[in-house]
Amino acid sequence: MKRIGVFTSGGDAPGMNACVRAVVRAAVYHGLEVYGIMRGYSGMIKGEFVRMDSASVANTVQRGGTILKSARSQKFMTKEGRQQAFDQLSHAGIEGLVAIGGNGTFTGATIFEQEFGIPTVGAPGTIDNDLYGTDYTIGYDTAVNTALEAIDKIRDTADSHDRCFFVEVMGRDSGYIAIPCAIGGGAEIVMVPETAMSVEAVIETLQSSYSRHKTSFIVIVAEGEEEGNVHQVARRVKEALPQLDTRVTIVGHIQRGGSPTAADRLLASQLGIAAVEGLMNGMKNVMAGIVDRKLMYTPFDDTIHKRKVINQSFMRMVEILSV
Ligand code: F6P
Repeated sequence: MKRIGVFTSGGDAPGMNACVRAVVRAAVYHGLEVYGIMRGYSGMIKGEFVRMDSASVANTVQRGGTILKSARSQKFMTKEGRQQAFDQLSHAGIEGLVAIGGNGTFTGATIFEQEFGIPTVGAPGTIDNDLYGTDYTIGYDTAVNTALEAIDKIRDTADSHDRCFFVEVMGRDSGYIAIPCAIGGGAEIVMVPETAMSVEAVIETLQSSYSRHKTSFIVIVAEGEEEGNVHQVARRVKEALPQLDTRVTIVGHIQRGGSPTAADRLLASQLGIAAVEGLMNGMKNVMAGIVDRKLMYTPFDDTIHKRKVINQSFMRMVEILSV
């Protein structure tokens, strides 16, 4: 393999640039040519390729977002789109890919390899931390810290006004962002899709805290919560406990931006190098990740279909700590 491409795809995540940088520099270090593919699969279809060298990624390790831009491509989901992408890659002589993204990205890469034989090694780039095969994804640590900063500020105003705030954090179908936010942000309750916490249970807990003379409350609601969205949960609580002065805050896309934390920069750098070295060693359809502090390559099939389990003791911690 002489020439590889690197792209970022799906929702951007802090640390993606550090990962691109590591891929480019590892490629240069090992004597490979490297191209940046702009806007994920969408740019692959259009042949938006940029030759990169060590200098192209200077001054990027600390930057949020992704210098390669990102997109979710509908066209790549069609055979015709993938054929166009293959034609563009062949024309440019690109023989292998490093994909930085999540499950959607790896699903596309798997089909692409089966149809056209272009190998991809992935690096987990998503704030959601919902990928099997790595303890942490690139961007997760930064997103949690950003959300926590917001929650600390909400707590100040909640305390001043004796209010009950319902705070929605991101995470798609998982509660990985919500749980550390609840523990680190001193929330009374956390609602995540992985556990069946009913609104009735939330009401009961708040009522009991209220009767113990607590005056302000934070309830963290993961965006994928199955009992309803944050507005619906807040409305039902208010109906049952009209004495509470309730407010809703959605932290939102702020969680996707900003300079990556040290942990994210380190993880991104480690996995970017691992992805290039995996490709050089003939790997395909695998994601580089860190499990129990060890580098692992997990088949895309597992990252896509297996679910990472939330440590239930964290839920218990929220209960104990909010007593
Ligand atoms: O996967 C990252 C993520 O931020 C999720 O937490 C969220 O559900 C989704 O992307 C939002 O996507 P979009 O930016 O397309 O609204």
